Amino acid sequence: MAKLTVEDLPLEGKKVLMRVDFNVPIKDGVVGDDNRIVAALPTIKYVIDHGGRAILFSHLGRIKKEEDKPGLSLRPVAERLSNLLNKPVTFVPVTEGKQLEDAIDNMKNGDVLLVQNTRYEDVKDGEYVKRESGNDPELGKYWASLGDVFVNDAFGTAHRKHASNVGIATNMPGKAAAGYLMEKEIKFLGDAVDNPERPFVAILGGAKVSDKIGVIDNLLDKADKIIIGGGMAYTFYAAKGIKVGNSLVEKDKIDVAKQILDKAGDKLVLPIDNVVADKFNNDADTKIVEGDIDDGWMALDIGPKSVEEFKNVLKDAKTVVWNGPMGVFEMPNFAKGTLEIGKFLGTLTDATTIVGGGDSTAAVKELGVADKLTHISTGGGASLTYLEGNELPGIAAISDK
Ligand code: 3PG
Repeated sequence: MAKLTVEDLPLEGKKVLMRVDFNVPIKDGVVGDDNRIVAALPTIKYVIDHGGRAILFSHLGRIKKEEDKPGLSLRPVAERLSNLLNKPVTFVPVTEGKQLEDAIDNMKNGDVLLVQNTRYEDVKDGEYVKRESGNDPELGKYWASLGDVFVNDAFGTAHRKHASNVGIATNMPGKAAAGYLMEKEIKFLGDAVDNPERPFVAILGGAKVSDKIGVIDNLLDKADKIIIGGGMAYTFYAAKGIKVGNSLVEKDKIDVAKQILDKAGDKLVLPIDNVVADKFNNDADTKIVEGDIDDGWMALDIGPKSVEEFKNVLKDAKTVVWNGPMGVFEMPNFAKGTLEIGKFLGTLTDATTIVGGGDSTAAVKELGVADKLTHISTGGGASLTYLEGNELPGIAAISDK
């Protein structure tokens, strides 16, 4: 990669500003899935093992009003990070000012400090001013002034142009480097999309076609097959003139779906059968139907024949990228298609298998097959932007080698 990496930076005795993505689920003040924290550990450890003073920045959730702040403090993350690193982590409950500056001045080599949620800057005196999310030039400059070098390891945030990633980096020319997680994500996703071992099969799911049009468009030229599941499949059904009953359809995207179908030929693989329900509820009456879906019924999962067909397409693949569930995964009665696909991916030991997005990642974890896959991306929106072939501002702002 033509960007600076953490190994290119001087670290001994330096104040190392680090952007990580600690946007993790927190319930009742306790961190749930800590995958994103664990994924940042190699870079943090490298920095402190080389005598750097690690000053960590992350956002958490979205802050639009003053009342959002207390529930979105990063304090629980500091506690979990401290346990994982097995050393104290100083948590600074503010994002600017003397308290932060003094805490940084008091750091010794190898110390770790976590700054409060960067999105606290989005609301000032009750006003939604978006200083962080709008990449306020003064804020990026101020944060950059607190350190000597900058390491961006927040792949999950790389599709955002915020003060804490792009702002800091642009104020530290020649001193902004990628961390190990950032490097790893770019390598796996980049190789899969631009230099895949073939056959290359993409599996795309989720509710809306509108979220995935860019990805489908980009991958049509690159993948050998694109499997479509989840709610978005039924907009394609509508485009093919198949009856969809009460299934989710984006009417304003039917024309785009037609264009994609024309361009794709037999590259696009749609579900053959579906689990349909009489209401959007886990306890709904259900049946399995092939083809047309009658009024009063909505497709909430792919059916068993679709699962077999998808497995057949996947069995010889050498590269697989999966983003998005095959059905309404959060309802147990409509999770089977997603789970079956996840389980099957775990058996493809000769293939490079990459999973991104919350539900597909949750599925492979629930099945215990996550460690059989090659790479689980920490980026949802970021990995989609990457799959669309679009530039990620957070990566672009990192200094060139
Ligand atoms: C994510 O979870 O996708 C990233 O942390 C970005 O969060 P955002 O969508 O709130 O910007």
